[in-house]
Amino acid sequence: MKKFKKVKSIKGTVRVPSDKSISHRSFMLLSMAKGRGRVIDPLLSADTKATMAAMRAVGVQFEETVNGFVITSDGYQNFKEPSDVIDCMNSGTSARLLTGVFAPTNKYYVLTGDNSMRKRPMDRVILPLTEMGAKFAARDNGSKLPLTILPSVTNPVELTASTKSAQVKSAILLAGVQTEGVTTYTEKAVTRNHTEIMLSALGANLTVDGLKISVEGAADLRSIDVVVPGDFSSAAFFLGGTLMFDNSELILENVGLNPTRSGMLNVLTQMGVKYEIDSERGGAEKLGDICIKSQSFEGCTIDGDIVANMIDELPMVATLGLFANSPVTIRNAKELRVKESDRIEATLYNLRQLGAEVEEYEDGMKVYPIKSVNDKAELKAFDDHRMAMIAIMLAKRFGGNITVDDMQCVDVSFPTFIETFESLEQ
Ligand code: S3P
Repeated sequence: MKKFKKVKSIKGTVRVPSDKSISHRSFMLLSMAKGRGRVIDPLLSADTKATMAAMRAVGVQFEETVNGFVITSDGYQNFKEPSDVIDCMNSGTSARLLTGVFAPTNKYYVLTGDNSMRKRPMDRVILPLTEMGAKFAARDNGSKLPLTILPSVTNPVELTASTKSAQVKSAILLAGVQTEGVTTYTEKAVTRNHTEIMLSALGANLTVDGLKISVEGAADLRSIDVVVPGDFSSAAFFLGGTLMFDNSELILENVGLNPTRSGMLNVLTQMGVKYEIDSERGGAEKLGDICIKSQSFEGCTIDGDIVANMIDELPMVATLGLFANSPVTIRNAKELRVKESDRIEATLYNLRQLGAEVEEYEDGMKVYPIKSVNDKAELKAFDDHRMAMIAIMLAKRFGGNITVDDMQCVDVSFPTFIETFESLEQ
């Protein structure tokens, strides 16, 4: 349990860690492609290291360079059967996407994960991949890790999403691109599209028509160089931090601004928050520098399709309800219950500990501006990196005897969070 000194304000320039989603996909997709490609500035965290280890286990070479890796592969057609279990650790992206990458290769794999990951649903990828002809055996009636992928040959099918999940969509597209014929997947709402962007860049014939994505299979993927931008989801803690701490001012450099990820910016605008985006640049994956200052702001209601474009930022935005002039309400976000922790329960547990007035819904939550703070609150990280970072910021904002039970899990997406935050404290 750790106590923190109260921090008055935060100021400075931050370069947030590289994007976790794009780093996972670079490691997987450059492994599926033939040839040599470079990943420049990937995130090296517990989660992305799990993906790298999985790709090494099927015979792909990763050579470290000053700013990333050179990946050399003979392509998905020549993956070798791994000689041991693949451990996805805490990483849902590794578990779901790798299931899609490996299922069509006609080989035997066993995937597992840590205590949290073994509780999270895998049937969301097992069921549609089974429709493609893939064969699995999995714990808990075919729904959880550990799971076994049995050798099989897949067929192209037309699938319709049953959850708003980029991980499920990506698993299907990564299986589809290996499967002779055209696989189509129709989303329920637009979710992050990094997989589509990268598959096209590697030469896949992929088309997007509204919510319907089609990919031509048995594709000859050719390696490329990928430069990974900063992670919007890590930047979100500093956007939130500037609004939590008085007299604060930050410049967040090199942040990925793909609109399927940056829904939080639209919501901040709706809350009356002013920020600036400088020197927007990049190709298919946009990036830029965000400047933001402390200011007074309103609450908001978040509902509908935008939820999918800010799914990982919702606990941060809910927490801003404490500091807004009116409540923050989030609905249509039941997916939060199956993240690294149940993020509705975890957010509300900590905010109740602090003495806040909150309401819980099956698919969301409502957080009222805080009136008086319990300065002996015992905040919990719930073994969840994003919950840990918010708890640390709350403990620093209110000071007193507030404690946070664990900080180790920040390694999953932002290994240098504590030092980065400290360097901004005034
Ligand atoms: C991710 C998709 C999201 C997100 C996760 C990363 C990805 O999960 O919460 O942190 O890289 O595709 P879902 O697809 O399950 O919503």
